[in-house]
Amino acid sequence: MSTSRITRRDFAVLAGAALVSPVAIAQTDAPLVMRAIPHGGERVAAVGLGTARVFDVNDEPTRRKAAAVVQALTANGGRLVDTASTYGDAEAVLGAIIADAGLRDKLFIATKLESPNAEELKRSLARLKIAEVDLLQLHNVRSTQQSLAAFRGWKEQGICRHVGITSTYHRDYPAVEAVLKREKPDFVQIDYSLDNRAVEKSILPLAADVGAGVLIALPFGRGRLFRAVRGKELPDWARVFANSWGQFFLKYLLGDARVTAVIPGTADPGHMTDNADAMRGPLPDSDQRRRMVDFVEAL
Ligand SMILES: NC(=O)c1ccc[n+]([C@@H]2O[C@H](COP(=O)([O-])OP(=O)(O)OC[C@H]3O[C@@H](n4cnc5c(N)ncnc54)[C@H](OP(=O)(O)O)[C@@H]3O)[C@@H](O)[C@H]2O)c1
Repeated sequence: MSTSRITRRDFAVLAGAALVSPVAIAQTDAPLVMRAIPHGGERVAAVGLGTARVFDVNDEPTRRKAAAVVQALTANGGRLVDTASTYGDAEAVLGAIIADAGLRDKLFIATKLESPNAEELKRSLARLKIAEVDLLQLHNVRSTQQSLAAFRGWKEQGICRHVGITSTYHRDYPAVEAVLKREKPDFVQIDYSLDNRAVEKSILPLAADVGAGVLIALPFGRGRLFRAVRGKELPDWARVFANSWGQFFLKYLLGDARVTAVIPGTADPGHMTDNADAMRGPLPDSDQRRRMVDFVEAL
């Protein structure tokens, strides 16, 4: 049973029967962590879904699995799905799910282009089966000279509602910073996880300065964090804010108010529910976040 779908009264009964922990009770019915997009102020649920690698083959088993994951996202209050023109067939898989389940209005769809190429944009919209994307990102920025002029033009035409840039290549972060400063996009997407915190001193403060929302790619370091704690119990001091390792790792990131949303990738609806539950209950404060860093550094 998902803790997010049972009421306080159900919990009281279950707790009486000692079936759930007091922490789970504290998280039930709690309001979701929502974050405002700095440009425009729209509020989005702070846990979304990434589609790299997991949805990249457009066949029946993948579409079925992907539909169950997207259903778990929306059933638990999430909206944001991040994809890209280069993630194999992921845009087409997502497009089929959106069309079949009539999900367009329930999702905030972010995709990425390698360059400001109108044909590539047309292909993405056709594969997604939508007329307007919520966020269009210039993928893997690598040069200080890259411009968002075409993306802004598409925004004016109503083809995208927000524009952004991305990179997870640290050698290219100087270019990301230069483009962020000059172009002031609505969003920047970068990699950040409990064991990969370089952006805390560089891109996060800059994003706050220029008023860019921040999407967090690779929040589990491509699963590296789960491998590091395999066979280990969640420490007691963390149980006041997390019910699982997934929530522990995501809540560290959400504990930084500069983060707009995290986009963990998963092909497992149970994992999606677990990740979405990181939007419920308390977030770690600065002392607890320091303790989380010490814990992971000692692994
Ligand atoms: N340049 C860029 O813009 C860029 C680059 C890279 C990635 N990204 C974005 O970041 C997203 C996330 O990246 P990612 O998927 O590679 O890495 P990730 O989110 O750091 O980790 C995904 C891994 O964690 C596992 N996992 C997820 N939730 C779990 C849970 N609750 N419990 C246990 N295991 C769990 C997944 O396995 P299961 O499938 O078994 O759950 C998968 O192996 C991508 O989809 C993409 O949208 C952007």
